[in-house]
Amino acid sequence: MATNTTDENNKSEFLHDEVYESIPPNYDLINHLFTGGMDILWRKKAAKEAVASHPKAILDICCGTGDLSISVAKIAGKDAQVTGLDFSRPMLDVAVRKAGKAGLDITFVTGDIADIPFPSDSFDSICIGFGFRNLTYKNEVSAQYISEVLRVMKAGGRFVIVESSQPAPNAKIIKFFHRLFVRYIVSFLGRIISGNSAAYQYLAESAENYYGAEELRDLLLQSGFSKVTFKRLFFGAAAIHVAKK
Ligand SMILES: C[S@@+](CC[C@H](N)C(=O)[O-])C[C@H]1O[C@@H](n2cnc3c(N)ncnc32)[C@H](O)[C@@H]1O
Repeated sequence: MATNTTDENNKSEFLHDEVYESIPPNYDLINHLFTGGMDILWRKKAAKEAVASHPKAILDICCGTGDLSISVAKIAGKDAQVTGLDFSRPMLDVAVRKAGKAGLDITFVTGDIADIPFPSDSFDSICIGFGFRNLTYKNEVSAQYISEVLRVMKAGGRFVIVESSQPAPNAKIIKFFHRLFVRYIVSFLGRIISGNSAAYQYLAESAENYYGAEELRDLLLQSGFSKVTFKRLFFGAAAIHVAKK
């Protein structure tokens, strides 16, 4: 089975560029550690949502080391074509190795979500695992990212987002522990294990202040999606949103 990469577009100049150039060796391990392994289950749930409408062409944006692309490819059916897109070469190198090992035919492409290197109306389903925060947290081009997702998605297509979130507004005790965990444990452990202090400081700060599930739903509706549903995961520490074009 061919697992390949193409270098079509690699032009983003954001801080995130540097952040993701130096994470890959421990990236998967740290994710599993922070979530007690629940991120694996959450991606699987998101993958099920992404293939629920039996799509033929599926794009995983900000695919990183490829875990969500792989989960999708395993359940998408033989006729479906899965593509992973990310601007970090080192992350994609890991993704290519993992997909090859799993015997899956996934195309990994280097490119920026601000200028997705595919024609309009190319995909039935688009998904993103723990990357939407990067695209939309204090990011001045977030509207451009979302409009690119809408452009390459076919009419009636679905956009599935699995992302860290906030505990429900009335869950005060959970909110307290969530804040403690994100503020102190994530940045401390991330720095120690990865050696990349800036990356995990950014992760902690953005996770603490990111949208709650209702706010993210509203953002998607305001951005042009016609219908948005969501499910909270683990008391709201994360959420899966499904947005229809
Ligand atoms: C937190 S990681 C998530 C990786 C993977 N989806 C997962 O589930 O673990 C975010 C990824 O988004 C990528 N990324 C961030 N901004 C991007 C952009 N503008 N264009 C393409 N990739 C981007 C980074 O390179 C990184 O691989």
